[in-house]
Amino acid sequence: MNPFWHFTRKMFRRRATIAWALLFAMISAGGLGVGLVTLGPMLKMILSGENLADLANQFNAQGHVISVPPWLVALLPADPFDGIVVLMTGILFLTILGGFANFMHKYLTQALAATTVAKIRQEVFCHVIHLPLETVVTRGPTEFVARIVRDAAELQRGFIALTSKSVTQILKGGAALIAAFVFQPLLSLTVIVVGPILGIILRKLGKRIRRGTRGSLQAQEGLLRVATETMHGLRAVKVNTGERRIIGWFHRINKVVLRQELRVRTARAMTPPIVEIVSVITVGALAIFASRLILNQTLSPERFVLAVSSLGMALASFRPLASLLNDIQASAAPAGRLAAILDLPREGSTGIRLKGLPRHRVSVEFEEVSYTYPQTNRPAVKSICLTIKSGERVALVGPNGSGKTTLASLLPRLLEPSSGRVLIDGIDIATVDLRSLRRQISMVTQETVLFRGTVADNIAFGIEKSTPDRHERMNRIIDAARRAHADEFIRKLPNGYDTDLAEQGASLSGGERQRLAIARAILRDPAILILDEATSQIDAESEAHINAALKEFCQGRTALLIAHRLSTVHNADRIVVMDDARIVAQGTHEQLLGSCELYQRLTRTQLMAPM
Ligand SMILES: Nc1ncnc2c1ncn2[C@@H]1O[C@H](COP(=O)(O)OP(=O)(O)OP(=O)(O)O)[C@@H](O)[C@H]1O
Ligand SMILES: [Mg+2]
Repeated sequence: MNPFWHFTRKMFRRRATIAWALLFAMISAGGLGVGLVTLGPMLKMILSGENLADLANQFNAQGHVISVPPWLVALLPADPFDGIVVLMTGILFLTILGGFANFMHKYLTQALAATTVAKIRQEVFCHVIHLPLETVVTRGPTEFVARIVRDAAELQRGFIALTSKSVTQILKGGAALIAAFVFQPLLSLTVIVVGPILGIILRKLGKRIRRGTRGSLQAQEGLLRVATETMHGLRAVKVNTGERRIIGWFHRINKVVLRQELRVRTARAMTPPIVEIVSVITVGALAIFASRLILNQTLSPERFVLAVSSLGMALASFRPLASLLNDIQASAAPAGRLAAILDLPREGSTGIRLKGLPRHRVSVEFEEVSYTYPQTNRPAVKSICLTIKSGERVALVGPNGSGKTTLASLLPRLLEPSSGRVLIDGIDIATVDLRSLRRQISMVTQETVLFRGTVADNIAFGIEKSTPDRHERMNRIIDAARRAHADEFIRKLPNGYDTDLAEQGASLSGGERQRLAIARAILRDPAILILDEATSQIDAESEAHINAALKEFCQGRTALLIAHRLSTVHNADRIVVMDDARIVAQGTHEQLLGSCELYQRLTRTQLMAPM
């Protein structure tokens, strides 16, 4: 099924709105029709000087199905001029009514389309947030952003086309076609022959439009990627004098977008002339055929004229449907791309409700754990066996790329082990509810992530909004900030804790951002704390203070500290040395200095900050 219809069904669930929209469409069309009909009597009055009552009586005398009731005839003005005024007022009233109905029809259908698309956008966003990290990282975030924003907008155009054009046109065209059949069935049959031919042509064009739209959306994704990456890395672009290269990239992708758009435009522009030509050929053939019949006297000329004019009307009503089909084909591309996202499995989606993990109090265990990133063939961590007792502080050291971050990411299930198990208090974390697991863990990642918002909001990002009163909440935020040594610099900001941060905290220094991230981790009151080089950019003096505070904070909590600095490592109860995806040694600083050659090297070179 065309994925467009999958989403359209969601729209058609709003039956009441659809019914109202239809009603208003009919009133609007009816108002126009009645207005036209009244023009006849008006002309007659002006030309022959008869009054409205005479006309009504004449009409009734002709014995039509409906007649003007006598009480109404009695009310009609005797003077022809007054009659014209009455009719004009009537037309004015009908026009206003028709205009209002037209407005309501447009408003309802467009609101319906917009509401449905807003819902779809929400649904897709919610789905993407719950996708496994791996999926989003490997496909690249831009792909998802582009689809949520750009594709949804494209889909909306299809919805609007469908709801605003289709129904009235089909109704009108259908009625005209029936009339044609009544007048001359044989002639009208030709439509049945021509219909499929037109259908095939429109289908071909539609496919072009669909492919072109898909290509264009894909290329626009590239455009978005280059643009956002450049804006985020503008500093690097400028100092590396990479402007020309970036502009070149943008130019190339921009050309692809243009080519695909032109492809779509061409197909769209070809549709009306093709429909027109086929129609004219049909009518011409009909005329030749009919002239034979008329000459043979098997067909009366008036019937022929009536049938052909009805067919013409049907054609005129159906013609906009060709562009409607194009719109639907164009929307099929974004619909397909959105549906593809919704088909991706969410993380931890087993279908069954998992039990919650009780607060950690015994141990964290890695049991023969290996992990290989998708699209690579070398494991990033391999056969890791490591047991950490509750309350223990373990430092993880090793050269770049040895797998420290990967190993730490397995604990909050940001990554799922390729083999082996991770156990907390003896329970395999793959079998518990994801939220209950992550709620117990605070992780400060290598890249600090801040959001647009106030400093206080950023620190409180990890806790539920339901915290009792504002005052108490603020006190806790300030306490966490103090421990992270952030309070001092926050108070110097223009609005203190209420200062708005720029996107990704760009208005703060690297060390300041790290302090906020640590404050956020502390405020969550975790059972397990993971710090991945959380203090790498903080000056030595402040780091010493933060380390002291963390030491106190870690009482009764399990901590995994990844560090390149000796000062952090010293804080730990045990040091684990990793190299090339494996654990190569563990012990205390003194033990390792005596036994592990890699550790000696690391202390000499990497772990060199002051003690
Ligand atoms: N998303 C990814 N896709 C593929 N390979 C990855 C990905 N992330 C990391 N790797 C690879 O996995 C290995 C381990 O990376 P990891 O980030 O765990 O190292 P690390 O010990 O934290 O290094 P550093 O000290 O530089 O932070 C590296 O060889 C890296 O190239
Ligand atoms: Mg790392």
